[in-house]
Amino acid sequence: MIYLDNAATTPVNSRVAQVIYESMQNCFANPSALYNIGADSETAMNKARAFVAGCIGAKPGEMYFTSCASESNNIAIYGLALARKNWGKRIVTTGYEHPAVQHPFEFLGELGFETIFVNPDKSGIVSEEEILAAVDSKTCLVSLIHVNNETGAKLDIERLSAAIKRKNPRTAVHIDAVQSFMKYPIDVKKLNIESLSFSGHKINGPKGIGGLYLKSGTNIKPVFLGGGQEKGLRAGTENIHYIQGIAKACEILKPNISRNLRHYRQLKKHLLEGLAQFDNVVINSPQDAAPYTVNISFTGYRSETLLHFLDSVGICVSSGSACSKGSQSHTLTRMKLPQEQIDSALRISFGVQNTEEDVDSLIRALKAAKEKLQKVKK
Ligand SMILES: Cc1ncc(COP(=O)(O)O)c(C=O)c1O
Repeated sequence: MIYLDNAATTPVNSRVAQVIYESMQNCFANPSALYNIGADSETAMNKARAFVAGCIGAKPGEMYFTSCASESNNIAIYGLALARKNWGKRIVTTGYEHPAVQHPFEFLGELGFETIFVNPDKSGIVSEEEILAAVDSKTCLVSLIHVNNETGAKLDIERLSAAIKRKNPRTAVHIDAVQSFMKYPIDVKKLNIESLSFSGHKINGPKGIGGLYLKSGTNIKPVFLGGGQEKGLRAGTENIHYIQGIAKACEILKPNISRNLRHYRQLKKHLLEGLAQFDNVVINSPQDAAPYTVNISFTGYRSETLLHFLDSVGICVSSGSACSKGSQSHTLTRMKLPQEQIDSALRISFGVQNTEEDVDSLIRALKAAKEKLQKVKK
């Protein structure tokens, strides 16, 4: 099996699985319990917390664990907007966010916030000028996806955040870094942002664990209520096992970020060379997109048909975001691409385990698909 859908999720690294297994055996006590083994769980959890925080230049007390990045995004977006609603009810984001940001924005719109979505252009790029033009004195929150999950389009967060804060120093900036965490070096202090979310299952960790960086001293209204875990921001007994697991996943990737990026660039180059043989392939990702996500249209062939053909020969790719199963690509639609290009889109996303041979197999399979599958009639 050749797995080329790493933007959807990644295989769990066996060293991560081992840490989780051992944690389940040895660290079952509730970290909030007052007896010794509870304190041991808390110590282990905080060691993991400090490690993960250090990976993005944050302090241990600025790192919160959640059940997934969707939850982290919800906590940040509702919490930051509601804490600022008395002076500002304008919230700004891009038109190509993951649903875990898009839908909370829509819900805040129903609650009376003024929501601005800045769409990407046809090349998949969201204009920095347009984002900045949307920020005014009443803008309480800007939420930006660092690397888009469908095309790999990448925003310059450091430059954008600085410019947003020059326009309105009170505006909180939240970053959805699910597709960039542990793939690009991130220093939250340099980025000058209030919060940033990430997920375990995109970095060879387990599903069911997410993280949220929240700059110390940031005014936020907790919306996930219950026991006072995670300093009252995220109620619920902490998943100590997966917290240790995500820390291990970070430990494995952190020293290899530059090397992995070089590897992805090489794979992308090889893929683009292979795709150049086809007269019906259009590249939908922007030229300077993150190298591990390549969105193409194999025009004349429907995504689903192609996807099932590739699956039948043991190759997994996707037709867009894994979260919008069956529905057409949100990002490509917002890019206003021709319908035929949207209907024939494929997302190829690399992981650390992929090789040039995997890319060669994909190219061979696409050639076979062209021979065997019937073209859709216009
Ligand atoms: C950009 C982006 N944000 C948020 C999420 C949601 O992450 P999770 O599955 O951990 O809730 C995803 C998952 O695909 C994503 O790609």
